[in-house]
Amino acid sequence: MSNLPNSQAYQSYRNLPPLAGLSTLEAAARPGLSVESAVSRLKRAHFAFQQLHRIYTSHITSEPIYELKTAFAYHAYLCSEHVAAHRERVGEMREPPLGLEAIPHPALEVFFDEILTAPSTGHLLVGIYEKALPALDAALARHMADTNPLTDAPSVRLCKLARVELAEMLEYGQKAVPCLVDESARANMTAWCANLDSLLAQAGGLDGALPIPADAPSDPSRMSSQTPYHYDPIPKRDDRFQDLYNQGVNAEEFLYTPEFPANAKALMMLYKRIREIDVPEMMASIIVQTSGKPWDYYRAMTRQMWDEARHAMMGEVGFVALGVDWTKARITFNWSMRLNTECTPLERHAVLYFIEQGLMHKTGKRYEWEVGGESGIPLVKTLQDYDWADEVLHASIGREWYIPQIGGWKEALDYGDKCWSRILSNWQTVKEQGLTEHANWWPAIYQQACESWGISPDPKVLAYDTTYAGKRADLKHVGIAGSA
Ligand SMILES: [Fe+2]
Ligand SMILES: [Fe+2]
Repeated sequence: MSNLPNSQAYQSYRNLPPLAGLSTLEAAARPGLSVESAVSRLKRAHFAFQQLHRIYTSHITSEPIYELKTAFAYHAYLCSEHVAAHRERVGEMREPPLGLEAIPHPALEVFFDEILTAPSTGHLLVGIYEKALPALDAALARHMADTNPLTDAPSVRLCKLARVELAEMLEYGQKAVPCLVDESARANMTAWCANLDSLLAQAGGLDGALPIPADAPSDPSRMSSQTPYHYDPIPKRDDRFQDLYNQGVNAEEFLYTPEFPANAKALMMLYKRIREIDVPEMMASIIVQTSGKPWDYYRAMTRQMWDEARHAMMGEVGFVALGVDWTKARITFNWSMRLNTECTPLERHAVLYFIEQGLMHKTGKRYEWEVGGESGIPLVKTLQDYDWADEVLHASIGREWYIPQIGGWKEALDYGDKCWSRILSNWQTVKEQGLTEHANWWPAIYQQACESWGISPDPKVLAYDTTYAGKRADLKHVGIAGSA
């Protein structure tokens, strides 16, 4: 039955869509959710996005699989944006004090703790992509269906936009899970998954809008999270990454040697890009181990972390496009390993800022872009163009969030230099410990590229054999940095 019994005769002007196209008059005439109920649901969605951001970020460093590291960086970034949007919306709804840090339901807290402490990568993926994200998506769909499309239009828009990105994340999960979780792995997680379902049911669904089953336990039960979560700052890599302490090819020195041709330099820049997978490994540790900042801090840092993961993927794409097998290069984790284990989070941020300031010089990102242009490889020029633009953004993120923690610009830069200088070269030590021979991998990579270009290798380039012995990776004397 129509809820507009008296409106039969009502027509919009010349039958134009009514209500700015938001909905039918009939849908907008249903009362829908109160502000209080809408806020309660938004707070739960906010909590879910925040917890997912934490789960993703916490696993980037210690997850060995490169494809997952980069996907986690992306999905963490998407979650951080939706956290920000939900905070803003709740703030618009007569809510101060906002109470956004409160845990909305004890069973939801345990639900996300269980996923955070997932006993394996398979559990983690199933927990995120088959439990948490579908529950969150269903909650947002319910908000859109239950609320008044006119009175709560800003929330409807928020949910709608979030669901576009959730759909992308869910699709990723549908493709990724079967690659890593077979039937026997799935059989081993039945009880753990059933507990996740039970926790959601105890909370009345993610949004609290579903009836709580009469037989639902009142005490949320912990399985994997019986042992509280402990962040692992040690970077791990999958087995395509070999010889992780190798510092046998000094990429920056090569790039700044005038007589080397631009195409070989472009190849070395692709190496520098893919090596940047160590930046999200390091930045994730800053984000996880820094507490009490405004959300905008985590949002900016997560954006940069995602950009750095993209820079690594730019390198990957460049190698694939040239037909060069990047696994023959040595993609070291020396930088993230050392910063994560030898520096405090603030010291790590200081080093990052110091390196990024170096990249703003003429000899930094602009030079790399120019080399990309001279190389005759249009893709490399594009990659460096955007890498440079991203770096300008990162320098401004540093100015906004790092400098004020130290004082002025000069002190902040000096502090970064001091922290970075403390990381003395471990070139000799890792060799003596038998961790690497610092083998020169460059000729193998360069020869592959020359084959793909159909040219014969330049003997000078082929003979390049300068290592990082005795140097920190930023080559202060040429004003250029390692990873950033
Ligand atoms: Fe970068
Ligand atoms: Fe950067």
